Amino acid sequence: MGISLGRIWPGRFFQRSIEPAPPAAPYWDFHCHLLPGVDDGLRTLDETRIAIAGLQHQGYRGAVLTPHIYPGVYDNDPEGLRQAFADLQRSLEGGFALRLAAEYFADETMFDAIAQDDLLYLPLGDQKVVLVEFPALMPNPCGMDVLVHLSRAGYQPVLAHVERYRYIQQEPSAWLDKIRHTGAWLQCDIGSLVGQYGPHPQALAHDLLDRDLPTLWGTDLHRTTQLERYVAPGLVLLTKHGKRINQILEEQAA
Ligand SMILES: [Fe+2]
Repeated sequence: MGISLGRIWPGRFFQRSIEPAPPAAPYWDFHCHLLPGVDDGLRTLDETRIAIAGLQHQGYRGAVLTPHIYPGVYDNDPEGLRQAFADLQRSLEGGFALRLAAEYFADETMFDAIAQDDLLYLPLGDQKVVLVEFPALMPNPCGMDVLVHLSRAGYQPVLAHVERYRYIQQEPSAWLDKIRHTGAWLQCDIGSLVGQYGPHPQALAHDLLDRDLPTLWGTDLHRTTQLERYVAPGLVLLTKHGKRINQILEEQAA
């Protein structure tokens, strides 16, 4: 005698299987390298146009641009980036909202910039949101101090792609606890969920998602090819979790 699945899981199983995934259309991207020709991101205005069209196709209506400020590697400064951003906005046709922040490498030079209140940040209500990245393989001795100094100076630090640091992958609970005490938010790259950076970032990204920890999700877009290959399937995965992506940024959409 056959037993129908409906009798084992009355109603719910079948209801779930035919329900469409809850909407999680992303509005804002937080963390991308769309500003052309200033770092290892998009190289030309044409590439930026293609990337914006691709982001719109995925449901985005705006992006917070976060070009690298990384002394000795990408020697950008706030004034130069503001100028490049103004040039970009003049060159685009509109219809896609852009804001300028930066992705700071956490080194000693940040202490002076914090003291001089000379940082590129995203204004969000009365918060000043600053994106900071750590070294990939070995912890930088001043990294956590940078987060603490930012918090004490009235900024809201955000640790970029937290799932991609090898030392955090090795001891996630201890690191997450330390980071929480600095007051920093966590940002996760959407592509990590589907293996863009390999199995270890992927595993930690899923762990963070399960813990509902990332406050912000980013494409970390450097090349237009990332969109179809990693961002699109990553968004499908987030949608299945019922996440409304970067809802915290939507208030600035007006
Ligand atoms: Fe980045």
